[in-house]
Amino acid sequence: MAYPHTRLRRMRRDAFSRALMRETDLNAADLILPVFVREGRDVAEAVPSMPGVERVSIDRLLRVAAQASELGVPALALFPVTPPEAKSLDAREAWNADGLAQRAVRALKKEFPELGVITDVALDPFTTHGQDGLIDEAGYVVNDVTVQALVKQAVSHAEAGADIVAPSDMMDGRIGAIRAALETGGHIHTRILAYSAKYASAFYGPFRDAVGSAGNLGKGNKYTYQMDPANSDEALREIALDLDEGADMIMIKPALPYLDIVRRAKRRFGVPTFAYQVSGEYAMLKAAAQNGWLDERACVIEALTGIRRAGADAVLTYYALDVARWLRESR
Ligand code: PBG
Repeated sequence: MAYPHTRLRRMRRDAFSRALMRETDLNAADLILPVFVREGRDVAEAVPSMPGVERVSIDRLLRVAAQASELGVPALALFPVTPPEAKSLDAREAWNADGLAQRAVRALKKEFPELGVITDVALDPFTTHGQDGLIDEAGYVVNDVTVQALVKQAVSHAEAGADIVAPSDMMDGRIGAIRAALETGGHIHTRILAYSAKYASAFYGPFRDAVGSAGNLGKGNKYTYQMDPANSDEALREIALDLDEGADMIMIKPALPYLDIVRRAKRRFGVPTFAYQVSGEYAMLKAAAQNGWLDERACVIEALTGIRRAGADAVLTYYALDVARWLRESR
């Protein structure tokens, strides 16, 4: 029955009834912190296009892990910054058992065994051209050869102790190939978080600065493998295939401009669904906050709540530790 019988403002009048009818919550336990890892000792180097974000050496990474652990953030996602001399056409550094990512995983699992460690499976930090895969003479990223390289990379991460490997490369068939290799290698507990719906987004710009692949990629783009931002049915096909091939979790990326995809994916498949609030989303919020144009805390929590409301079970966000602190303060 309509007004005046129904007055929706009745429930909004007091904090207690607003709390009781709140549909979506946001907790530290829903967040994953991406971290840029670099070589060196005791270094934390600022990323200019992501104020507040640093590239840290492994010893400093352990301090970040201690904070995450203390604040109740369940997992870290590692992104190695490869020194230029370790990059090559065949990206072999990606599966070096003693590579930066592999050493970082071992250090973390030794000191913080209960903290989840997620590794990125893609070749862009390791290729001289900055593409996620291996290229032919024409510069085209060749699918099946790349998949073989990704399998080696994923297995080396599992051997180092990674809990979750997260292929973010968008090659066809890589989830099935990685799953088969993990099973054969006895890594039956290693989870796969498939970046199933990864869009060819301009919002990755600051990330490419952070890992130092922007210069390598130059004017290149990733349109032949990452998805067209205009598409949504195609995302569901990608997700269906990845699940069929053995993915345990799926990812939508970026997050805020793609909430419809998050919603459709969660509705259709009902599987653990994550969203990545990417570097450009972070940079927008941070820049506006630094100019005094937005209330950072309120806007970040609103954006993350919106991503959760759309259907994401967990969110990768560079704000994870800040948010965990803010939520604790507001208790
Ligand atoms: C690379 C990768 C990218 C991001 C995560 N893994 C960039 C890209 O595809 O060019 C972007 C994350 C971000 O922007 O925060 N495989």
